[in-house]
Amino acid sequence: MAADISLPADATSTAALAARGLRMATVDANDDAAVRAWVEADTRGFHDSAPTEESFAELRPDFASQRTIGVYDASLADPEVPIATVTAWPAPVTLPGGEVPAWAISAVTVAPTHRRRGIARAMLEGELRTAASAGFPLAILTVSEATIYGRYGFGPVTWSSRFEIDVRRAGWVGAPSPGRVQLVGRDTAMATARAVFDEARRSTTGDVGAVGRRFDRLFGMPSETTELRKKRFVRYDDESGTPRGLAVYHVLEDGDDWSTQVAHVDYLAVTTDDAYRALWHYLLELDLVGTLKASLRSTDEPLRWLVKNPRMIRTTELREHLWARVLDTAAVLEARTYGAPGRLALRVHDPLGFADGSFTIEADAAGHPTVTLDETDDTPLLDVPVDLLASLVFGGVSALTLVDAGRVQERTPGDASAADRMLRAERAPVLTTWF
Ligand SMILES: CC(C)(COP(=O)(O)OP(=O)(O)OC[C@H]1O[C@@H](n2cnc3c(N)ncnc32)[C@H](O)[C@@H]1OP(=O)(O)O)[C@@H](O)C(=O)NCCC(=O)NCCS
Repeated sequence: MAADISLPADATSTAALAARGLRMATVDANDDAAVRAWVEADTRGFHDSAPTEESFAELRPDFASQRTIGVYDASLADPEVPIATVTAWPAPVTLPGGEVPAWAISAVTVAPTHRRRGIARAMLEGELRTAASAGFPLAILTVSEATIYGRYGFGPVTWSSRFEIDVRRAGWVGAPSPGRVQLVGRDTAMATARAVFDEARRSTTGDVGAVGRRFDRLFGMPSETTELRKKRFVRYDDESGTPRGLAVYHVLEDGDDWSTQVAHVDYLAVTTDDAYRALWHYLLELDLVGTLKASLRSTDEPLRWLVKNPRMIRTTELREHLWARVLDTAAVLEARTYGAPGRLALRVHDPLGFADGSFTIEADAAGHPTVTLDETDDTPLLDVPVDLLASLVFGGVSALTLVDAGRVQERTPGDASAADRMLRAERAPVLTTWF
């Protein structure tokens, strides 16, 4: 990990920006003033509140495990505040039946005064070269706008739903769970959460590990005192007393009519089906609540099948969440298992050259692959633009859908269906946090 975050700024991008009078450099995680100036630029880029002493102190430890870059313009009145930011760190991401080390990129901003001059492009392409040369087969990010990252070879790999549930009319039909639900304090919740999250993450395609203190913030941070004091933590323990699930929620008042208040599920992670049922049952039967809202939920939640009236679970938003970019195609194809034995060839087209080429996957009876760099005439074959390669590898979209959309080409009718038998994930991929 230390080696990864000490990687230097990409030489090509540094030179390209230097030719425009800008200095691209890594931020020394031990230099308090430099980190503070960088955080100021980052929050400014997203129109967020400027950091206070307290919120900065909470963010500060993140920098020890991130490789952070600023772009500086020496001609400005405040030259120490970067005009562009990006940070990244290594994180495992779960694939069907496996996982892959990814370069997680975040906090991409360019000051409004310097926008549309190719600074983001220089930083992004620099991050891709850095990640590829350090051996990361995949780069990942979450996005503010879905229009930005396709041009760099990223495509959506998980989709998330936002629910609004009329809890009074939903009704419950799920079987009871044998364990126990209990409310716990924040410290107890946080002490349990990491183990539950890590186990749930490893079996959830599309979920990303090692989110550091971003994860802790799900539990509210002391600098957000009001919100923190509203958060409640509910845990499910199995019959042997082992924690198997955790939900974080808060309730917002609704004028004088307490009975119509809205409960927000901030986070819910489970490692067993019993825990899933018990925690949703608890949330759906809260008194003084008329509506339950939850975001970052899967597109295929079992919850719909746990209520009498599934129409009362309205999906108010369905959007892509995790985006991924393949940097080493063979490594990513080898890192997962496949749903059926067989052969499949992918011809990948990557204008930036990282993932380009022809690859044949041969999956054995257990779904374990051997990947070779060739293609043969008798193998089902898809022509795939690089931005859709990760979408297919995570298994959340059908190859047939992409062929129907004209974004992927099959060599022979039936090739996309053959591909789907091998590639489709058993459950819809989902990312349960932001980073
Ligand atoms: C998004 C942002 C980083 C772009 O920075 P920038 O330096 O202006 O981008 P560039 O000049 O390098 O543009 C690169 C390409 O992206 C396109 N682009 C840039 N911003 C875009 C946006 N918001 N939507 C769609 N396309 C965008 C440019 O048109 C350009 O396209 P091209 O190279 O194919 O011609 C900047 O506008 C910003 O800081 N926005 C606010 C914070 C944010 O949303 N960050 C993204 C976090 S996920």
